[in-house]
Amino acid sequence: YEKLDVRPLRQRLLVVANRLPVSAVRRGEDSWSLEISAGGLVTALLGVKEFEARWIGWAGVNVPDEVGQKALTKALAEKRCIPVFLDEEIVHQYYNGYCNNILWPLFHYLGLPQEDRLATTRSFQSQFAAYKKANQMFADVVNQHYEEGDVVWCHDYHLMYLPKCLKEYNNNMKVGWFLHTPFPSSEIHRTLPSRSDLLRSVLAADLVGFHTYDYARHFVSACTRILGLEGTPEGVEDQGRLTRVAAFPIGIDSDRFIRALELPDVQEHIKELKERFAGRKVMLGVDRLDMIKGIPQKILAFEKFLEENSIWRDKVVLLQIAVPTRTDVPEYQKLTSQVHEIVGRINGRFGTLTAVPIHHLDRSLDFHALCALYAVTDVALVTSLRDGMNLVSYEFVACQDSKKGVLILSEFAGAAQSLGAGAILVNPWNITEVADSILQALTMSPEEREKRHRHNFVHVTTHTAQEWAETFVSELDDTVIEAKLRTKQ
Ligand code: ADP
Ligand code: G6P
Repeated sequence: YEKLDVRPLRQRLLVVANRLPVSAVRRGEDSWSLEISAGGLVTALLGVKEFEARWIGWAGVNVPDEVGQKALTKALAEKRCIPVFLDEEIVHQYYNGYCNNILWPLFHYLGLPQEDRLATTRSFQSQFAAYKKANQMFADVVNQHYEEGDVVWCHDYHLMYLPKCLKEYNNNMKVGWFLHTPFPSSEIHRTLPSRSDLLRSVLAADLVGFHTYDYARHFVSACTRILGLEGTPEGVEDQGRLTRVAAFPIGIDSDRFIRALELPDVQEHIKELKERFAGRKVMLGVDRLDMIKGIPQKILAFEKFLEENSIWRDKVVLLQIAVPTRTDVPEYQKLTSQVHEIVGRINGRFGTLTAVPIHHLDRSLDFHALCALYAVTDVALVTSLRDGMNLVSYEFVACQDSKKGVLILSEFAGAAQSLGAGAILVNPWNITEVADSILQALTMSPEEREKRHRHNFVHVTTHTAQEWAETFVSELDDTVIEAKLRTKQ
C-alpha cells in the first residue's frame, strides 16, 4: 500500500451534501444563529464520529451580501462546516425545481407533478442547467478545500453531477457517492430527459452506494439498458474502467438515543406524557411533511380503524408530528392543507368535549422531547409510499427497550428489509390492511411483542451510522487501491 501512496483509513473526510447539518437564521447584519436541520441524511451523518470530517453544503438561506457571507462562513467553521452560497434563482430552479419537483417524486415512484406536467416539461431544460451549475459550484468549493489524500464523499440526488465535476478537476481524487433515496426501476429512470447525463456523471465516482441491494440493482440495470454498458457483479464497466456499485444500509447512532432516555429532562417528559395520555394507548407518526411519507393514507387508515372498532375510540390516540419541509414547492403546500383538512374532519367526527383522537403538530420536536415520545409510544406507524430507508423506524426501536411497542412499517421503505421480521409490514395504499394491522398491534401478546422487538433492537444497535460510514469509506479505499493495481499490471 505504501508503494502506491495510499493513506491509511483515518484520513480526512470531506462530506458533500446539499443540506448542511445546521441551517442558518439571520439575526443581524453579521450575526447568525444555527439550528439543527431535519432529515435522515443529517441524522445519519451526525452519528458518524470516528472521522476527521468536514461538511460542505448549503446553509438553507440566501446570503447576497459579502458581510453576511463572511460572518456565516466564520460561524459555520466552528461546526466544521463550509458553506456553498446559492442565490435565490439557483435555489428556485435547482433545489425547488429540479431536485424536489422532478428527481424526488420520480425516484419515489410518484411521477412528475400531476397538474403542471406540461409546465414542468417546459421548464425542464432551464432547471437541469441550474442543477449542473449548482453542482459545479459545490465542486468549486470542494476543490478549494481539498488536500491530497482526502476522501470526498458526495451525498444524494442533489449532487449526481458532482462526481464528474470533481474528477474533471482532479482525476486522482477519491470520490464516493451515496444515494439516500430509492433508485427506481430503470423503466422509471428512463423517462427522465437527462437520464444518460446523470448516470454518466455518477459513474465518474469510484464507488457508488445505495441503501439496499434492489436499488443498486436498479442502478446497474439503468446503466446497462440506457447507456449500453456492461454490468458485472462488482458494478458497471465502461471501456475497462470499473465503477464499483454496492449496498450499504444506513443506521443511526443508537447509543445516543438509549443514553438520552436516562437523562432527568427526558424522564420528566416521559412522566408528563404518561400522565397526559393515561388510560389511552399512544400511536405515533413522526415525519417530514412530505408526499412520500403517506401521511394522508395513514390518517385515513386510522379513521377506518376507529370506524370499525368503536370500543377503541376513547382508548387510543394518534400523535402525528409532521415537520414542514420544502415549503416553497407547490405540491408540499397542497399536502399541508390536505392533511389539515382530513385531521379536522376526523377530530370533528370522533372527538368529544374532553378528547380528540388525533393530535397533529406541524413542527419539529427537540431531541429530548422526541426521545420521550418514542419511549411512551405503544404503536409507531411508518406508512411511507416509498422511502430510501426511514430512520424514524430505527429511532423508535432504539427507544423501546423497556416498553417493547409495535412497529407498523410500510413494505415500501428500505427499512422493511432490515426490520421486516420484527415489524408488521403493510401496503400503505391499502387502508383496510393498515386499519387491521393497528388492531393486531394494539392487541398483540407481550411475548410476541418481546420477540419482535428483540429482533429489531439487535439490528438497530449493531448496524449503526458509524458502521455504515466505516464500511463505505474502507470499501472506497479498497476500490481505489484495486484500480491502481489494475492499471499498474
Ligand atoms: P427523511 O430522511 O425522508 O426525512 P428519515 O425517517 O430517514 O426520513 O429521517 C427523518 C429524520 O428527521 C429523523 O432523524 C427524525 O427524527 C427527524 N424528524 C422527522 N420529523 C421530525 C419532527 N417532526 N421533529 C423532529 N425531528 C424530526
Ligand atoms: C431526505 C433527503 C436529504 C434531505 C432531507 C431533508 O432525507 O434524502 O437529502 O436533506 O430529506 O430535506 P431538505 O430538502 O430539507 O434538505
